[in-house]
Amino acid sequence: MKIYCVGDEILNKVAEPVKNIDSSIKELSREMIETMHKANGIGLAAPQVGLSLRMFVTDVEDDSPRVFINPQIIKTSIEENTYEEGCLSVPGIWAEVKRPAEVTIQAYNEKGNPFTLEARGMLARCIQHEYDHLNGILFINKVDEKKREKILSALEKKAKKQQKKQRR
Ligand code: NI
Repeated sequence: MKIYCVGDEILNKVAEPVKNIDSSIKELSREMIETMHKANGIGLAAPQVGLSLRMFVTDVEDDSPRVFINPQIIKTSIEENTYEEGCLSVPGIWAEVKRPAEVTIQAYNEKGNPFTLEARGMLARCIQHEYDHLNGILFINKVDEKKREKILSALEKKAKKQQKKQRR
């Protein structure tokens, strides 16, 4: 699947709930996990592959692949931590983002079964990053203004270089 990058409008949109968790959604979950693995990512949300659907997949270290459909974060810890994040849709950019250290999430898996998960560490961070994608939020929207300006100008430069290359 094609991964959409910053500048693509789909990444700024609030995604639509999944109506039926049927065989096509199961197949989509499989394809998204494959795409995430191929890109060496630890998480991928449907808007990143051009689909306005509330679902994402994760596969963090010491865990196995997980599918979250129509997720709701129902609890976040008061304790926060800061960690350097990147995103398959914002290639080449990393920035420190502060988030709650632990979250509790409710969702459905690809079989349509509901589950509740208390996550911490890398999984908690990944879940929050992917969940943000469903609301049209990128991690670069969560850094302070100064840092964001730097990131945006770096992205602009990159885009210009890319255009030059394509013209040649
Ligand atoms: Ni991302």
